[in-house]
Amino acid sequence: MEVPCYKQGFPSEKEEVAGLKREQQQMQDAIRNYEDVDSWKTVVFLYNAALKEVGTKLEILNDEFQHVHKYNPIEHIKTRIKTPESIVKKLKRYGRETSIVNMVKYINDIAGVRLICSFTSDIYRLAEMIGNQSDLKVLSIKDYLRNPKESGYRSYHMLVSVPIFLSDSVVDTKVEIQIRTIAMDFWASLEHKIYYKFEGNAPEYISLELQECAQMVSELDDKMLLLNEAIQACLENDI
Ligand code: GTP
Ligand code: MG
Repeated sequence: MEVPCYKQGFPSEKEEVAGLKREQQQMQDAIRNYEDVDSWKTVVFLYNAALKEVGTKLEILNDEFQHVHKYNPIEHIKTRIKTPESIVKKLKRYGRETSIVNMVKYINDIAGVRLICSFTSDIYRLAEMIGNQSDLKVLSIKDYLRNPKESGYRSYHMLVSVPIFLSDSVVDTKVEIQIRTIAMDFWASLEHKIYYKFEGNAPEYISLELQECAQMVSELDDKMLLLNEAIQACLENDI
């Protein structure tokens, strides 16, 4: 199936780099502004604020969609802040020393939102709605639907920044948004468990089975989308 692709309004590579640099500088200034407070707490406070802002925005978009189209593109929303242990682990994997500056600079998914929807068409619909929010900056896009990972992983990732209005400054704070269908989420949860269990070295036959399952998930998503379109057509024609 040809999946639609939303490109308009999304940043070029040059703009992505400029956006990330500007955002890092603001965050570092904010940490300096809070020298009297533990800077780790400041960072966590900012990422928590960013999660709240983005979470509320998405709920409003979902409610508006329900109001206008009598349909919810989002099945559920999960949010999380990365644990300090995972942050340290990731910095190590990137070959960086553990520091607040490095964490803000190199780790893009400290604040994470996962949007689970029913159909692949919802994914692009949501990405478009997010891209159209004038106060959110889209810093980068990874479309693992069009380009699945070798593991079979499929999802649509958006790195955005949201302005956090403090008493005397504004700090653009990064949030990673992952958008996927229920079926993709089912696959990713199991694959994640297996990946951790075998510490990234799962036996070959398990990796192959998982890739096969990813193919089945992709076919299931396509079939469900077509079925849903057929149902909609019946309803519209009052069959
Ligand atoms: P990381 O350094 O692993 O975060 O990769 P990245 O910075 O290149 O970002 P990417 O967009 O590839 O992945 C970000 C997140 O997507 C991960 O933290 C996972 O939540 C999810 N993800 C990416 N690849 C896989 C995968 O193969 N399996 C599963 N289960 N999740 C994945
Ligand atoms: Mg990442």
